[in-house]
Amino acid sequence: MKKAKLILNEKQSIDLPIIEGSESEKAVDISALRSQTGYITLDPGYGNTGACTSDITFIDGESGILRYRGYPIEEVVHNTNFTDLSHLLIYGDQKDNSDLIKFKKNLRQHAVIHEDMKRFFDGFPPNAHPMAILSSMVTALSSYYEDSDHDKEEIIDINIVRLLAKVKTIAAYSYRKSHGLPFIYPEPELGYVENFLHMMFADSQEDHHSDNIIIEALNLLLILHADHEQNCSTSTVRMVGSSHANIYATISAGISALWGPLHGGANQAVIEMLKMIHKDGGSYKKYIDLAKDKNSSFRLMGFGHRVYKNYDPRARVIKSMTEKVLNKLNINDPLLDIAKELESVALNDEYFVKRGLYPNVDFYSGIIYRALGFPTNMFTVMFALGRLPGWIAHWREMILNPKNRINRPRQIYTGRSKRNY
Ligand code: ACO
Repeated sequence: MKKAKLILNEKQSIDLPIIEGSESEKAVDISALRSQTGYITLDPGYGNTGACTSDITFIDGESGILRYRGYPIEEVVHNTNFTDLSHLLIYGDQKDNSDLIKFKKNLRQHAVIHEDMKRFFDGFPPNAHPMAILSSMVTALSSYYEDSDHDKEEIIDINIVRLLAKVKTIAAYSYRKSHGLPFIYPEPELGYVENFLHMMFADSQEDHHSDNIIIEALNLLLILHADHEQNCSTSTVRMVGSSHANIYATISAGISALWGPLHGGANQAVIEMLKMIHKDGGSYKKYIDLAKDKNSSFRLMGFGHRVYKNYDPRARVIKSMTEKVLNKLNINDPLLDIAKELESVALNDEYFVKRGLYPNVDFYSGIIYRALGFPTNMFTVMFALGRLPGWIAHWREMILNPKNRINRPRQIYTGRSKRNY
């Protein structure tokens, strides 16, 4: 095994094992560092810290590569649907497709939520953000379904199916609630995406939403959001799940982490920013300057990424689908023009080029969601729906790993030394 030597001072050094991943990613394994030397590592924001090994998703941020279980994202989006992809992410390769058939059947069967749960929605104020409703209701699922035995794979599997099937129903009901509309029951014969659209829009825009381009676009968006290895919300899921909190509470924590505008909440923030620029006469240059101004807290939302220092491959796919959807539906959205202008200015501006700031997955997704009829405050819910199989895949990988320990980082204390009270 290759080793790295860490010299701490004249008297102390340690040989640390080097771990290599299947795509030649390298890590120095410091798990024995504190016990052998008394030192810990300090890495605010975890930019250099690997918290686990994982077989699920590979990202090369410098080259703009994203692969699910080895398959390039550009191939996946055009050759599968969201349910098949969810199964692949969660369970990996299968010897035949009998498990997938069972999985799909179960997803259809478990789509309804307990009748009593519908009353919970009444307690939320009419203008409640659907992300607030979603995270609360996902935690509430734990009061209906037992999940204490992490050693039994059949219990894990049934809770996985319940979550995937019911979260889309809860997501649709969050929208219905926030618009004062009656709930629409899921239709067991409909596929995942079709059923979700049915529960969202059946009474208002059914014809529109059974259009193939909309089903194709929504499948593509959910697939593109399905996993992104150890991002903030997935790490939250691993953190909370490591305490053996139940799967519903664990996933709800991931939903809350996703809500922030620096993470999944950015898709809503992008549209709000584009609307603001549009209202301001489309003077995007002013906002580029503001984003570069270190005295201003304004950031170009939908730009930049901790891992991608190149064009986010998801943004490229979404951009071309956005144009296709808008053309097909004959929609002329001035926000798309502003977004494209912003992008072209930023991509040629030294500030953005030097820092490797490119459009990320959130930059164009909101424009498609608008075209599909989703209100702005549902955008992050849509992200959560897409990311759900990724969170579940990571939770399952962690919980079935016998070496898993509770996650517990350390700190360097910088407060006052001992004093009398
Ligand atoms: N606009 C202007 N400047 C930016 C932007 C931006 N969107 N993003 C980063 N920068 C600048 C920073 O000011 C910093 O400049 P400096 O080196 O002169 O101090 C430099 O680029 C590095 O930025 P960090 O904040 O250190 O990068 P970090 O990796 O911590 O943050 C993040 C990544 C949060 C995505 C950041 O780029 C950002 O805030 N983007 C806007 C929000 C957004 O789109 N989030 C969605 C991300 S994708 C996702 O989570 C699904």
